[in-house]
Amino acid sequence: MSLRNLVKHLVDKPLDLESRNLLVDREKEIQILNRFAEFQSYGVYGVAGETGVGKTTVLNFVEAKDACVKKINITLRESVDSILYDLIYNLARALEVEGEIAKEARQIREWITEEVASVRGFVLGVSMVASASVNFQKSQLPRFNFFAAREKLAELIEKTVQLKRKLILLIDELDKEKKEDVLRTLDAIKSQILFENLVVILALPYSIYREYSADRMRWNEAGNLENIFKDIVFLEPLSKSDIKELLIRRIHEHLELVSQEVLEIASDFADGNPRDAIWILNKTVFENVGEKRISKEHIVRTIEKLVGEYFAHQLTLTENQRKALRALTDFTGSKEDLVFELQKSGIKRTTAYSIIEQLVQKKILLLRNGVYRLSGKFKHVDMDSLFQIR
Ligand SMILES: Nc1ncnc2c1ncn2[C@@H]1O[C@H](COP(=O)(O)OP(=O)(O)O)[C@@H](O)[C@H]1O
Ligand SMILES: [Mg+2]
Repeated sequence: MSLRNLVKHLVDKPLDLESRNLLVDREKEIQILNRFAEFQSYGVYGVAGETGVGKTTVLNFVEAKDACVKKINITLRESVDSILYDLIYNLARALEVEGEIAKEARQIREWITEEVASVRGFVLGVSMVASASVNFQKSQLPRFNFFAAREKLAELIEKTVQLKRKLILLIDELDKEKKEDVLRTLDAIKSQILFENLVVILALPYSIYREYSADRMRWNEAGNLENIFKDIVFLEPLSKSDIKELLIRRIHEHLELVSQEVLEIASDFADGNPRDAIWILNKTVFENVGEKRISKEHIVRTIEKLVGEYFAHQLTLTENQRKALRALTDFTGSKEDLVFELQKSGIKRTTAYSIIEQLVQKKILLLRNGVYRLSGKFKHVDMDSLFQIR
C-alpha cells in the first residue's frame, strides 16, 4: 500500500448520513437541531461557528419525522428584492423533486426566472442607453414585483406544508459572508419566512453568535438579534482527541503509513478545527508522496513551509515577543497565569500585558473561553529559524 492511496481518504468535504461512520462527536448538537426541526412549530434558528468547524456537516444530519427537509443556499445580493428572488428560486428548485408539488414548484421557478430576466435585461439596456447620455425617467424602470414574489413564496410554503405537514428549510453558506451582510440579508427575509410549520435553520458566522448572545444577555444597547433567532447552536472547536480520532477514522486502513507522532502533531496544528486537521495531513502526504511512510520530520517541514507562507507578514517579532514565545510552548491558563509565567522569564508586568495583546492579535496566542495557549500552528516548528527579530 502506498501513500498515493492515502490522499483520497483525506478530502475536505462535508459529511452526510452516508458517511456518518466518519463523524466524531456532535451528537448533542445534532440532537438539538433535530429537536428544533421536530418539536418547534415555526421560527428561525441558527448554527454558528468558525469556518471549517462542521456547520454544513451537522446540517446534513438534520432529520425530522413527518416533515420535508430541504437544504438550499442563498447568495448575497445587493437588494432585498433579489435576496427574496434567490430564496424563492432555490426553494422552488429543491421542491421540484417532490412528486405532489413538483409541478407548482416548477411553475414558480419559471415565473421567477422570467421576472429576473426581464428586469435585468431592461437594466442592462438602460445602462447602454445611459452611457450614450440619453436621459431616461427612473419611473419607467420595470420594478421587481416584490409583492407578487412574496405571495409566490407563501404559496410554495403553504402547499408544501399542506402536503408534508411541515417544512424544514436549511440555509447554508451565509456563514461565508461578513456579519453586516448577513444581518442585512436576514433583515430582508425575516418577515417572509415566518410561517406556521416552517422551521428555518441557518448556518452563521461566529461573529453573529457573539452578537446574538450579547443581545440575549442585554449587553448590547440596541440588540435585536434575539428577535430574529429563537435559538442558536454554537459549534465549539473539537477536542484534540476528537481531532485525532477523526483522522484515524479516515485513514484507518492505512495506519501503518503514518507514525503516531504525525497524528499528534496534525491534531495540535488543527486547534480543534476539523478542516485544518484534514488539510495539514493531506498536504503532508501530498508533498511526500514518494516516501514509504510519513514521519515527524515530514509533517514538521510541511508545517514550517505553510506557516512561513501564510504568516509571513506576522513573523517579525521583537526580542521580548520572542522571549515570550519560548516560555509559552506548553502553557495553558488564565491571563494572570500567563503574566506570571512571562514575569518568570524576566519580562516586566506592564510589558507582559502588551505582549499578550500583540501575540493574540497576530493569532500566535489563542484565547478561548478565557484560556490562553500557543496556537498549535507554532507548537512544533523551530521558532528561532521561523521568526525574524525586528
Ligand atoms: N464532527 C466531525 N467529524 C468528522 N469530520 C468532520 C466533523 N465536522 C467537520 N468535519 C470535516 O471537516 C471539514 C469541514 O466541515 P464543514 O461541515 O464543511 O464545515 P463548515 O461548514 O463549518 O465550514 C469537512 O471536511 C468535514 O468532513
Ligand atoms: Mg459550510
